[in-house]
Amino acid sequence: MPEFIIVEPEYEKHIALIRLNRPKELNALNLQLMGEIRDALLELDENPDVRVIIITGNERAFAAGADIKQMAGKGAIDMLKIDQFRTWDSIRKTRKPIIAAVSGFALGGGCELTMLCDMIIASETAQFGQPEIKIGVMPGAGGTQRLTRAVGKVNAMEMALTGKFISAQRAYEMGLVNRVVPVELYLSETVRLAKEIAAQSPIAVQLVKESVNMAFETSLQEGLALERKNFYMLFATEDQTEGMNAFVEKRRPDFKGE
Ligand code: CAA
Repeated sequence: MPEFIIVEPEYEKHIALIRLNRPKELNALNLQLMGEIRDALLELDENPDVRVIIITGNERAFAAGADIKQMAGKGAIDMLKIDQFRTWDSIRKTRKPIIAAVSGFALGGGCELTMLCDMIIASETAQFGQPEIKIGVMPGAGGTQRLTRAVGKVNAMEMALTGKFISAQRAYEMGLVNRVVPVELYLSETVRLAKEIAAQSPIAVQLVKESVNMAFETSLQEGLALERKNFYMLFATEDQTEGMNAFVEKRRPDFKGE
């Protein structure tokens, strides 16, 4: 049983929820907690009943970053040997969509974890930041790369060079989050979005995720080639037949993931 997260594989039909659960430490991401997220995601990714995964924290904190106390005494070779970011690489390979439901602090590794997710719903109390510079280091889990892609160079520079936090509203204006909702709605709004996605063909959903992510990894031409192959491949699914027949017959499709 995990110690620092709570996993609900059937939070709602086809929707799993992972809740970070180190509230006293503002969900600081120690090595064990990150390992638990990795293991939970591997399991949920294999579970045919799960179509969408939500990661959340609590109202005060999504996560206030990597565990500074765990890192404080370490040297460069210790960090190299621990190689904590292998865990993050594994999380990144999750094929099903992951939505972050964020309230309160999403800082450092916490902000980076939201950016590993595919979409972000923020409560109006959410605060995002890459404050590593204030403790003499820098982002190490994608903060200089994914943040720059999300919000552009000048915004990423300012956040990572000053360490200052930005509000949910500012994060929305910069394109970091999908939307901002009142704090009492951030989880229900995330579930609403998850349900919309869970109602689609899971195979098409997986290939959309793969194709969109490829936009950050390849040239336009290679990305378009992958998109085209994935598009053609979906014509081998029963869900494509069901989806198109349902349109013609003017009814809602019932996608089975076959
Ligand atoms: N690591 C370890 N413990 C943390 C933590 C972290 N990142 N963030 C908060 N905590 C702990 C605090 O030490 C405190 O514990 P104690 O009660 O035992 O002292 C508890 O959580 C509550 O925190 P505060 O008392 O500080 O709460 P606050 O409301 O006064 O301040 C805060 C909240 C502004 C988020 C402040 O806690 C803070 O600045 N935290 C650190 C944020 C940070 O620098 N994150 C980046 C970490 S490095 C990183 O993430 C590297 C990477 O790229 C992977």
